Amino acid sequence: MLSIQSHVSLKPYNTFRIDASARYWVDISNEDDLQTLLQLAEFLDTPKLILGGGSNVLLCQNFDGLAVKVSFQGIDVVREDDTHVYVKAGGGVNWHQLVMHCVDQDYAGIENLSLIPGTVGAAPMQNIGAYGVELEQVFDSLTAVHIQTGHTRTFGHADCAFGYRESVFKRELKGQYIITSVTLRLDKVPTFHTRYGAIQETLADMGVSEDNLSIKAISEAVIHIRRSKLPDPAQIGNAGSFFKNPEIPKAQFNQLKANYPTLPGYPVGDDFVKVPAGWLIEQAGWKGYRSGDAGVHAKQALVLVNYDKATGNQILALAKQVQESVQKKYGITITPEVNIIR
Ligand code: EPU
Repeated sequence: MLSIQSHVSLKPYNTFRIDASARYWVDISNEDDLQTLLQLAEFLDTPKLILGGGSNVLLCQNFDGLAVKVSFQGIDVVREDDTHVYVKAGGGVNWHQLVMHCVDQDYAGIENLSLIPGTVGAAPMQNIGAYGVELEQVFDSLTAVHIQTGHTRTFGHADCAFGYRESVFKRELKGQYIITSVTLRLDKVPTFHTRYGAIQETLADMGVSEDNLSIKAISEAVIHIRRSKLPDPAQIGNAGSFFKNPEIPKAQFNQLKANYPTLPGYPVGDDFVKVPAGWLIEQAGWKGYRSGDAGVHAKQALVLVNYDKATGNQILALAKQVQESVQKKYGITITPEVNIIR
């Protein structure tokens, strides 16, 4: 049964915990209700805001349209062969719950992506990634419903045009589809991704060596690192990394390195270097900065936080100040990773 409500605060539905409201709001948990909703004459032309876990949005004003919370549930093995298991999860499944389920079953591939906030349906949108693994590495396919026509379409890997924190759903098809399920291709025999420095150190601290390494141990290490650096959205409003790590030409990197010898950088192909925006922001003096209830997290400068009552525009104003200061100091443009709703 569809229950469309009006004038609903979106505070519980975005991890930044911004108190913006939606003119209309509905929670959808099955295909029939979704089709009914998309055919309602009175909402055909109403702008729609699709919310998963709300963990990658910054709401800068009240939304004068219909906010749709996607709650499709279910985790099922849909196919299996000698080496892989194909796990299909509803778009509304909590991402970390899916990771825990797979780790428990010994299905390998997403253990490095433990504790990322948000839902399964939102994961492909920005090709979530952490500690050396991106979603696209285990992605098989997804189903999505076209908002205008109600048609269901299956997207394969190539259709999604994945990039670093990018996909077709953030670009050409932005706002056009609701992702109802995602199927992952997971390994029966794990390939461990432990190259990321922090993982190696944490595993060593945990007493885990190559002999007793497991996907469970990696998951635990990742959870430990995330808890120690990233603010828990249940306690302090945030949307994870606010900016993407910029990729700059090698020549520019070398020049900067001469002035800032400790500047970290990771080669991207032969000509570009990825620079941690967190480092740039910290060195520009912003780490731990607070203005009213908007701030830069004290343990990870890439994360902007809402201590309590910051508005989306206050967070955005802080983001602009940070951007400008990084631009001025290093000549590097950093761009938001978070989806800004104005
Ligand atoms: N650093 C600083 N100061 C800071 C933060 C970072 O100097 O305040 C430097 C350090 O040199 C550190 C390097 O930046 O070695 C990298 O830091 P970290 O490992 O914390 O990763 P990140 O590049 O800041 C990215 C992702 C995170 C992901 C981590 C781990 C982006 C935009 N962010 O952050 O993803 O968890 O790597 O893989 O790529 C997210 O997308 O919301 C997110 C949290």
